[in-house]
Amino acid sequence: MLANKRILLIIGGGIAAYKSLSLIRLLKGAGAKVTPVLTRACAEFVTPLSVSALAGEKVYTELFDLTDEAEMGHIQLSRVADLIVVAPGTADLMAKMAGGRADDLASTLLLATDTRVLLAPAMNVRMWQHAATQRNLAQLRGDGVLFVGPNDGEMACGEFGPGRMAEPEEIFAAIAVALGGGVLAGKHVLVTSGPTHEPIDPVRYIANRSSGAQGTAIAAALRDLGARVTFVTGPATVPAPDGVAVVRVETAAEMLAAVEAALPADAAVMAAAVADWRVANAGVQKMKKDGSGRAPALEFDENPDILARVSRGQNRPGLVVGFAAETETVVEHASAKRLRKGCDWIVANDVSPATGIMGGRENAVTLISDAGAEVWPRMAKDAVARRLAERIAAALQAR
Ligand code: C5P
Repeated sequence: MLANKRILLIIGGGIAAYKSLSLIRLLKGAGAKVTPVLTRACAEFVTPLSVSALAGEKVYTELFDLTDEAEMGHIQLSRVADLIVVAPGTADLMAKMAGGRADDLASTLLLATDTRVLLAPAMNVRMWQHAATQRNLAQLRGDGVLFVGPNDGEMACGEFGPGRMAEPEEIFAAIAVALGGGVLAGKHVLVTSGPTHEPIDPVRYIANRSSGAQGTAIAAALRDLGARVTFVTGPATVPAPDGVAVVRVETAAEMLAAVEAALPADAAVMAAAVADWRVANAGVQKMKKDGSGRAPALEFDENPDILARVSRGQNRPGLVVGFAAETETVVEHASAKRLRKGCDWIVANDVSPATGIMGGRENAVTLISDAGAEVWPRMAKDAVARRLAERIAAALQAR
């Protein structure tokens, strides 16, 4: 896929620059040609010599190097690549790109190019969350720049949160996807996520504490491997990922209809926290106090089990993955659920309040399949998502 593709790799000045050396090795191993461009600050973190030795190519650093201009002008340099990759994409580089500035070789190339750009942000969590960076991110997305990461996790500066550059393997996968490859290219995966809201009357509803964070991360990870993702989401608190087809629903009944409409799919990951019951006698008008001091008696009907229906339906995807949020005897309950619902895998997690998992950044899951129960260490939800996406890709390839 990457054989003979030409990647112009702009390495910004950040501690994550060392990871770009591994990225060069991965790209070279896949047969790609890598032309490295170093910003001035980058040379503080990795040496031009090591970059050039790994890439097996000349390293470009300054705009006004007349020898370079005679050999290959900066305009031409910006055009010969199949893809421009910026890794690490620092806050400063993002700001320059968003503002259209061209005051050094890297920013000039980025302004002069007509080639697609993939950026792997890397910066301190506060810098990433700053309104200016988020503005620049939105601007760059609007300009068609592709992004990979940043990930959540511990940072070189000792803080924790989003801002860690994506791992070389993830950037490599994103490059493959941008160039039309990716292990899940051509596959359609359906993901459900978030809670459902079941109305009591037009202004009140029954809900649960699901944030949609894990389902969102799974959809993004599948997209990053090249899958076409349909993302059916209830009213989640985290925003839906880019680059997936989003179908917004409120109730379990709406989610079932959206899921059935989205099939066929090669795989389905049902991470939604679907309400088990809906209010059978929901008010058409807002329910009023009647002065008697008695609360209205709500009656409930059972909601359809979407996972069980998909698992046993005519349009069953080749791989169906369910979730089991439990608060006690997690593995036994989840294993029984896998058989009862007819899905292939169950991702089980303990959502007792003490774990901090529901609504939190991290998850500790056990993957249950017919091969048994596999305990995964506690990790960030996006790391769980990437691992699950890789397992799904491997399972679909083995079929
Ligand atoms: O039965 P329980 O809600 O614990 O099962 C969890 C799994 O079943 C999740 O994958 C969830 O998305 C799915 N589910 C569903 N429809 C329901 C209830 C749960 O698809 N009505």
